[in-house]
Amino acid sequence: MAITGIKGFNDILPGDVEKWQYIEFTARKVFESYGFSEIRIPIMEKTELFARSIGDATDIVEKEMYSFVDKGENRVTLRPEGTASVMRAFIEHKLYALDAVTKLYYMGPMFRYERPQKGRYRQFHQIGAEVTGVNDPMVDAQVLTMLCHFFAELGLTEPRLEINSLGCPECRPAYRQALKDFLRSRLDLLCDDCKRRFETNPLRALDCKATGCKEATYGAPSVLDNLCTGCEDHFSTTKHYLDIAGANYSINSRMVRGLDYYTRTTFELVTGLLGSQSAVAAGGRYDGLISELGGPSMPGIGFAMGVERVALLLSEKDFSRRPDLFIAALGGAARDTAFKIMGELQVMGFGVEIDYEGKSLKSQLRRADKFNSRFSLVIGEDEISRGIAQLKDMDAGTQAEIMLDSRDIAVRLDSQLVNHRQTKWNLPPRP
Ligand code: HAM
Repeated sequence: MAITGIKGFNDILPGDVEKWQYIEFTARKVFESYGFSEIRIPIMEKTELFARSIGDATDIVEKEMYSFVDKGENRVTLRPEGTASVMRAFIEHKLYALDAVTKLYYMGPMFRYERPQKGRYRQFHQIGAEVTGVNDPMVDAQVLTMLCHFFAELGLTEPRLEINSLGCPECRPAYRQALKDFLRSRLDLLCDDCKRRFETNPLRALDCKATGCKEATYGAPSVLDNLCTGCEDHFSTTKHYLDIAGANYSINSRMVRGLDYYTRTTFELVTGLLGSQSAVAAGGRYDGLISELGGPSMPGIGFAMGVERVALLLSEKDFSRRPDLFIAALGGAARDTAFKIMGELQVMGFGVEIDYEGKSLKSQLRRADKFNSRFSLVIGEDEISRGIAQLKDMDAGTQAEIMLDSRDIAVRLDSQLVNHRQTKWNLPPRP
């Protein structure tokens, strides 16, 4: 019997992978224009890193990590997210000594043992970005506008930005207590998970989807009414800069986030198009994380998006790539010429296809149709003896005479394919 893949671990096949490449390409382009550099972090870290940063009482650390003891008796974990690893690398390599502000982005697989369903997998992919060293709320707004810019660049306007503030170690304990006092008399309405974490993580009840938890938290005190002056100022200045940037957002005071390191600004980009998996991207400020991990006392803020979810939102679009040119050749001499011209054009960067085993013209043209190439060229004995052939524009249905010479063909293709060749994605030119 054939061996199949592991549940929740997906293959990304040709046909779909072009969409992924487009998402990654767009992220690099947008993030680099905001001064972010890529960092590549390992897939596995010491278990302790995630326990200390994400928090012992979170679902991720309690239930979802792929942790094991390796052959050297080390307790290791497949990374469930990127922020902890990026901050570990930031501290380990003293990146903070290079500049007061560091802007990093990353992309790659993450692992959480969750119940697989549409938009939720055990191996999933994130593209994330982190900024360290800036307290000023201008950077909160900058990170958010960059995220919105990325989605706009993909042509996606649907995910809505929701923001909240979770306060800081100065004001959150009092809020936590106020919430606990409120919930204590409603404990029996809470789901088993929220009952269990009532002492360790009572805020989670606020964004729990269970009907009883919604009922129990109805009328609960809002975190936004319990911020200290510093956090209140930070939140209102963040909104001020978002307004200057013309960002669309709403405030969701029930947004809690499932990781413990957050302070002050938190946010999610949510969609109604992915069923219960509504968050396409999420993040926030983590002003205590770097020192918690043994680094200097320094603020940080960032986000990560789920690439599978972004790809699902883009599912309507056709990302398949088309070759620039298909060459059909009839007869030995024509096949030799076609092979030579194809190689020369490929070296120049054009996408060229041929039917390697093509016999009849009819079967070669069938193959050309399947490739849906932008241009086609038919070479037979007559074309070889005259040194001239017809270059057909398959979209316009027009044709033009060209010399059977790769440079001549390249000039013609180049003049027609500017937009297409820049990205190689078969998308309409941007307005
Ligand atoms: P997170 O909310 O756990 O945050 O994950 C960020 C995004 O990853 C989610 O909004 C979702 O799109 C995607 N995601 C999470 N779990 C899965 C899954 N099982 N299957 C598919 N997609 C998933 C973080 O990971 C933080 N590190 C974000 C951050 C960066 N905060 C500050 N900097």
